Amino acid sequence: MDLFKVYPLFDVEIVRGDGKYVYDKNGQQYLDFYGGHAVISIGHSHPHYTARVTRQLEQLGFYSNSVQNPLQREYAQKLGALSGCEEYNLFLVNSGAEAIENALKVASFETGKSKVIAFKKAFHGRTSAAVNITDNTKIQAPINTRFDKALLPMGDIKAVQKQLKRGNVCAVIIEGIQGIGGIHVPDAEFLEELAIACQENGALLILDEIQSGFGRTGKFFAYQRANIQPDIITMAKGMGNGFPIGGILLHPRFEAKYGMLGTTFGGNHLACAAGLAVLEVLEQENLMANAARVGEYLKAQLETIKGIKAVRGEGLMIGIDTGFPIKEMRKEMLFEGQIFTGSSSDPNVLRLLPPLTISVSDADMFVSTFKTYFEKHQPTLVKKSKAIFKRIQDKFQ
Ligand SMILES: Cc1ncc(COP(=O)(O)O)c(C=O)c1O
Repeated sequence: MDLFKVYPLFDVEIVRGDGKYVYDKNGQQYLDFYGGHAVISIGHSHPHYTARVTRQLEQLGFYSNSVQNPLQREYAQKLGALSGCEEYNLFLVNSGAEAIENALKVASFETGKSKVIAFKKAFHGRTSAAVNITDNTKIQAPINTRFDKALLPMGDIKAVQKQLKRGNVCAVIIEGIQGIGGIHVPDAEFLEELAIACQENGALLILDEIQSGFGRTGKFFAYQRANIQPDIITMAKGMGNGFPIGGILLHPRFEAKYGMLGTTFGGNHLACAAGLAVLEVLEQENLMANAARVGEYLKAQLETIKGIKAVRGEGLMIGIDTGFPIKEMRKEMLFEGQIFTGSSSDPNVLRLLPPLTISVSDADMFVSTFKTYFEKHQPTLVKKSKAIFKRIQDKFQ
């Protein structure tokens, strides 16, 4: 049997992780500024995490959602306390797209409507309802595009209000910070206007915190820089530090009905143990504050590099718009500079999503490596150094 090859792969085999580092099969160390796609929140193979997951596996890995599972309640309580969303209710699933699918389903159940407003450059996952509102037609099959949607420019409240007035919208969905689109931060004011517009028109506001949640931006959820109470919040990625777990938080005004939502694996014992370990480490090691502090420092250092077009983001969710395609530079940073970074749907934007444990000296190390490769690839600098080289050559000929 062969693999169904849907991923373009880097020629590197990662076999071990330790904190902010990963190691390939030859023992080569890499600084992980990608976090396995924003997944590694508390660092690779954190000792508390491995011990808690191992202990749980030795006791009970899985039993179905047909019996009491006190770990789910323990998880909900801890999550409520840390996130400041105590009054919300929790439904646990296994991935980001599944969280989105369930959030949209609840919005449609609640309103009896099916049109969704999302934003240009958004990404919400690849299952049927999620991919329909994702701004990339290449990943949508005909079966995925069966319900009505409007993809509007982010920040354009008038366009949102106009669509909402038609009365057929069940939900407006927005990422806390747009990730795959190239790190675009919605204004707090826009989020607040969205919340009001949704309320006035009987639509639900869904905050997709799958990439931006769990302390990555220095707040538990990125939307918390605005004064809003979303109707539904979706979560995954950093939630399990690599264990597949996702969830939705539902505003208490929604009434649960038996059978309304369901999943075989969601909220299983092992997933809850992994999730609890993440929350415990986030709290004990004060990682949200660390993400805010180191992220601010990293952004400030990057902004001093001449020629960069823009540095965007909050905490440790940062996009660097270099002004030129980053593909080659990113590859060299990995294979020569030994640093993993992320790309985005914007070919000029490098995405940084390191574990929330990195220090100021890791940020310095990144900036110095990045600067070397940026200066090597930046077209005007390349042109300038070629011209200088030619002048020297001419002088000595
Ligand atoms: C904002 C956002 N929403 C949803 C998803 C989908 O998550 P998953 O890949 O776990 O299905 C992603 C994945 O990158 C994401 O970044």
